[in-house]
Formats: sequence, C-alpha cells, structure tokens
Amino acid sequence: MRLAVEVERFSWRCPFAQRDALREVSLAIPAGEFTLVVGPNEAGKTTLMLAIKGIIPHSLAGRHDGTVRVFGEPVAQKNAAVLARQVGYVFGDPDAQFTALTVEEEILFGLENVGVPTSEIGARIRRASELTMISDLLDKPPYDISGGEKQRVAIASVLAMDPEILILDEPTSMIDPLGKDLIVDICGSLKRDRRMTVIVVEHNVEAFAPLADRVVLVRDGRIEREGAPRTFFDDVESLIDCGVYPPQVTQVFARLQRRGLYAGPLPLTDEEGVAAGTRLLQGAGRWR
Ligand SMILES: Nc1ncnc2c1ncn2[C@@H]1O[C@H](COP(=O)(O)OP(=O)(O)O)[C@@H](O)[C@H]1O
Ligand SMILES: [Mg+2]
Repeated sequence: MRLAVEVERFSWRCPFAQRDALREVSLAIPAGEFTLVVGPNEAGKTTLMLAIKGIIPHSLAGRHDGTVRVFGEPVAQKNAAVLARQVGYVFGDPDAQFTALTVEEEILFGLENVGVPTSEIGARIRRASELTMISDLLDKPPYDISGGEKQRVAIASVLAMDPEILILDEPTSMIDPLGKDLIVDICGSLKRDRRMTVIVVEHNVEAFAPLADRVVLVRDGRIEREGAPRTFFDDVESLIDCGVYPPQVTQVFARLQRRGLYAGPLPLTDEEGVAAGTRLLQGAGRWR
C-alpha cells in the first residue's frame, strides 16, 4: 500500500500564539483514498491541510515539530514547485481566488505558472472543465457567475494541474444546495473514475460520508478519532458533543437503538435507512 500522506507527531504554532494549533498529530492516508475531515471551528483542520500542502512550513512563519511526508518525502525538504503540482488545494471562499478576466484565463494562468507545455494546455483545460461541468462558462468573467460555479471553476483550475492529491477545504460552505450536490458529484467521479487521493474538510457530513473511505475528527489541535464511516459514526452522541452531526438518518436509527427498538448496523444514507426501516417494520408484522 502506497501512502500519499504521512503525518508524524506534527505540531505547529503560529508566531505570538498562546498555544499550538496542531499538537502531535499523526495520520496516514493511502493513495487513492477519500478522506473526510470533520471537527468544530478553529479545531486545526485548515492548519493540517496547509501542512500537507506545504504552505506550512514553506510560506508561513511559525514553529513546527514532527514530520509531514507526501509520497514518502518530507514536505519541508520538497521542492516547492513539485509540491505545488502534486498537492492541489481549494479553499472555501470562491470569491477570494480569482485574478483573471475569463474563466478560461483563470485556469490557463495556473497551468502557465507550473510550466505545463503549450501543446498540452488545451486538452488539460477541456478535461478539467468537463469534469467540473463548467465547459459553457469558459468565456465568462469569473465575477459574473454563481457561487457554486465559482467553486467549480476553482476546482477545475486545480484539477487542470493534474495533482495527485486534491484537498477541498469546506467546498460547499458558501454555496446553494444545488451547487453543493454538483460538488459532491465531482468528488464522486474523482473517486470512482480517477482513483485520486481526495481530502475534503466539511461540515456537511450527510453528503460526503457515503463517499468517504475514512473519516477523521480534528478537535483542539488533535486527531480525536478516525475510522471507516460505518464505525466512525457509531457513537452518535459523543460526536454531537464534539459539534459533529452524523447524517440525520444515522441519528434517527441511533435513537431507535437507544430505545431498544433497533439492533442492526446504523444506516449512513437514506437508501440504507429505507432498507433498515422496511426490515424493522416487516419484523414487527406491521408491514406486509
Ligand atoms: N495565521 C494565524 N495566526 C494566528 N492564529 C492562527 C492563524 N491561523 C490559524 N490560527 C489559529 O489556529 C487554530 C486552528 O485554526 P484553523 O486550522 O483555521 O481551524 P479550522 O480550519 O478547524 O476552523 C485556531 O485557534 C486559529 O485561531
Ligand atoms: Mg478551516
């Protein structure tokens, strides 16, 4: 098993901060896995992503301890340009990331920055725009499209660079429900068709848990819990105490479980909930 990311007892403190934003964090992510990162605000999720992207320690001053490796090589010793290509990072605020006059130029700008040969550029833009469903927006100015479209353009710009690891930091936090679904669809096809290593930081657990191979809870600068979604969401109450809300359907069945009315595995999706509910009602003889 090839590891895409290895974080080993990594700690980080910003200059003048009273305490470490990350405290001896350890995490290993196999290549091709889909990781969902959850946790309350200010827990250290973004800081951890910046450490994987290499912005920490390359571009942010501070004190760190421990190691972060990307494909076996310590990030601190990696060439910044290589790292920029290998790890794509899209942050939540789609408005903050544009500089060009058209969507196409926006994507082009990133490609030129990392030195992609001119002969490849057209195909790269086409592929990334198809995958993110923005092909019909290429001529538009980035400020004249919806929030969800902006977020997809930001993802396209990063995907066009062919990263091996893609990090989406709260990609649906600022967009409408329809836009959210499209981001989830894009993540689904990256997982299915490209087997890309994807790390998504999200509060919208409902939509992303079904895609995740593993869920990681960051709280107070530490990794408090991690596991496959099915085991991760088992302890619904303690997660809610941490400010993490498992999918509604999981919460409902956990309540039935506490009342002694349900003993099966907790469903993660509506479909699983319907199947579990049907079995339950049939067993009770109320549904024929
Ligand atoms: N540039 C910075 N300077 C000082 N403190 C920071 C800076 N960036 C983050 N922090 C602090 O680090 C902690 C973790 O923040 P962050 O990683 O952004 O959390 P999250 O993404 O989970 O909301 C917070 O306490 C935050 O206030
Ligand atoms: Mg954050």
